[in-house]
Amino acid sequence: MDALQLKQLVAQAALKYVEPNTVLGVGTGSTVDCFLDALAAAGIPLKGAVSSSVRSEKKLREMGVPIVDMNDVTELSVYIDGADEIDPAFHLVKGGGGALTREKIVADISRQFVCIADASKMVGVLGKFPLPVEVLPMSREAVARKLTALGGQVKERAGFVTDNGNLILDVSGLAITDPVAMEQQINQWPGVVTNGLFALRKADVVLLGTPNGVETRS
Ligand code: 5RP
Repeated sequence: MDALQLKQLVAQAALKYVEPNTVLGVGTGSTVDCFLDALAAAGIPLKGAVSSSVRSEKKLREMGVPIVDMNDVTELSVYIDGADEIDPAFHLVKGGGGALTREKIVADISRQFVCIADASKMVGVLGKFPLPVEVLPMSREAVARKLTALGGQVKERAGFVTDNGNLILDVSGLAITDPVAMEQQINQWPGVVTNGLFALRKADVVLLGTPNGVETRS
C-alpha cells in the first residue's frame, strides 16, 4: 500500500467520529484532504466547519459546507487533523503545512482531537521532523538566535508566508524529551506566535494507517 492509500484508509476510519448536523473542527494537510474527500463521498450532513487554514476552507466551501467563524462557537465536539510526528503519549509535532497556529487554536476549543496519520509518523522521541515555529517577521533573527542556543539548526521556510502574515522557522536537531516544557519555553519568547509542539493540548485518539489496516490508539 502506498502513502496515499494509507492516508485514504485513516481518512475513511475518521468518518465514524463525525457527529452529523454539528459544527466540525477541520485541520490541514494531505491527510485532511483525503478525509474531506471521504466526508464528501459519504454525504454526512454538517451544520458547518471551523477551519484551521485557507486551504481547508476553500475545499470545504467547494463541498458546500458552511464556514463558521470560531468567534461564534464556544466549543467543538470533534477536531480532525493530521500530524508530522506523534510520540507514544500522543504529543505531536505539527505545522509541516504551516497552519500550526490556527490548528492549535481550533484544537484548544475541541473536546476530542482525533489525529489521523500513516504509521510512519509514530516516533519514540519527537524532533526528527524539523519543529516549525511561527514568528512575527521583525522577530525572525532574535528568535532564531534563541532557537540556536537551544541546540537547534534554524532555517527560515523559503518563500512562505502563513495565513496570518508571518514567517516559519523550521528547527532541526532538537531532541524533544520534554515536549510540554519545550512548548511552553519557546512560546513565551517575544515575537513567537506559536510553535508546532502540540503537547499541552495533545491528541485524544490517534488513527494510524498501516498495511494491515487502521490501528486505533486512545
Ligand atoms: C499542517 C499540519 C499537518 O497536519 C501536518 O503537516 C501533516 O500533513 P500531511 O497530512 O500532509 O502529512 O500540521 O500545518
